[in-house]
Amino acid sequence: MSGTPEERSEATHGVVLARGDEETAEVGGDLAAGLEPGDVVLLTGEVGAGKSTLIRAAMRKLGVEGAVPSPTFTIGRLYEGAGQSAPVAHLDLYRLGGLDDEDPGLLSEYFGPDRITFIEWSEGRGEELAAGATRIFRVSVEHVDESSRRIRVEPPG
Ligand SMILES: Nc1ncnc2c1ncn2[C@@H]1O[C@H](COP(=O)(O)OP(=O)(O)OP(=O)(O)O)[C@@H](O)[C@H]1O
Ligand SMILES: [Mg+2]
Repeated sequence: MSGTPEERSEATHGVVLARGDEETAEVGGDLAAGLEPGDVVLLTGEVGAGKSTLIRAAMRKLGVEGAVPSPTFTIGRLYEGAGQSAPVAHLDLYRLGGLDDEDPGLLSEYFGPDRITFIEWSEGRGEELAAGATRIFRVSVEHVDESSRRIRVEPPG
C-alpha cells in the first residue's frame, strides 16, 4: 500500500482503491505480513463494506485454515491451528451494546502479547478493548461504488 490510491507497495499504511474483493483481500494479506503478536487491528466501515473480506484474507496469511464464519452468537472466535505462528482472534462488535454484562474473563482469551486480534465494527468499544495492545492498526473500508472500495490503513500507534 502507498500514499496514492492507485499504487501498492510494502508500506504498512496508506490508502488503496480496491477494485473488487480480490484486491480487498490483497490489502488484508499485505497488512497481515506486517503484524506481530500483541497487535490489534480495528476495522470500521458500513454494512457490506468489505471488512470481513479483508480480515479473512489477513487470517489466511497468518496461517488460519478452514472456515472463518462471522462471530454471530458470540463476540469473538479464537483460532489456534497448528499452522499458525500465533493464536488469532476475530471479534465482531456489531451487536454489542455495552461490555458491562460481559464476563471479562471471556474476553481476555482474545487479547494478549502472544496473540493477534482483529476487531470488526470497532466504532463502539473497539478502542477500549484494544487499550492493552502493543500496537493498534486502524483500518477503514468505504464504499466508492458497487465494484470498488477505498481502504485506509493508519500508521500503527
Ligand atoms: N473492493 C471491493 N469491491 C467490490 N466489492 C467488494 C470489495 N471488497 C469486498 N467486496 C464485497 O462486498 C461484500 C461485503 O463484504 P464483507 O462481508 O467483507 O463486508 P463487511 O464489511 O464485513 O460487512 P458486514 O458489515 O455485514 O459485516 C462481499 O460481497 C464482498 O465480496
Ligand atoms: Mg463482516
